[in-house]
Amino acid sequence: MKNIVILISGGGSNMAAIVRAAERERWARRFGARVAAVISNKVDAAGLGFAQGQGIATAVVPHQDYPSREAFDAALAEVVDAHAPALVVLAGFMRILTPGFVARYQGRLLNIHPSLLPAFPGLHTHRRAIEAGCRVAGVTVHQVTAELDHGPILAQAAVPVLPDDTPEALAARVLAQEHRVYPQAIANWLNETK
Ligand code: GRF
Repeated sequence: MKNIVILISGGGSNMAAIVRAAERERWARRFGARVAAVISNKVDAAGLGFAQGQGIATAVVPHQDYPSREAFDAALAEVVDAHAPALVVLAGFMRILTPGFVARYQGRLLNIHPSLLPAFPGLHTHRRAIEAGCRVAGVTVHQVTAELDHGPILAQAAVPVLPDDTPEALAARVLAQEHRVYPQAIANWLNETK
């Protein structure tokens, strides 16, 4: 069985969309893959409750308990590796990972970013797109490399930026596409690596 480990920091709506797709699309039968664990850096991440309700193993590695980014990433990798991941999925995981962590999983480490990369890497992407007068915005699923938000692109989806759009309204429109595109990109990755 190929284990997928998903890292979250908050609501985990992308994680939930992936878990539901794995069930609905029979990833175990089609790809020999399953979501084996959901791990968070935040003890209060609401997504942990959803994963537990689905009978999925969960763990918390509180980043504030570690003296450095490297020490946190080493502890995180130990917990991730306990699930022998074929694929590590960052889904609303709000930590910048060290080059050492990225090197350990590169090639089997994906992320979702709420913009049409290479436009708007970093934070506050929706406000920045509106302020720049963009007519379209969207989401990117990409391989994670040492350079933040710059790895090879696996999938993208665009949404219109509407007149008088607020960052919140645009974020909701993009999030709906994230929940469609991320499971699709992961299924394609599993299919290509089975
Ligand atoms: C989403 O906008 C995602 O693009 C970003 O984190 C936000 C929350 O994701 N990476 P989730 O609801 O926790 O999956």
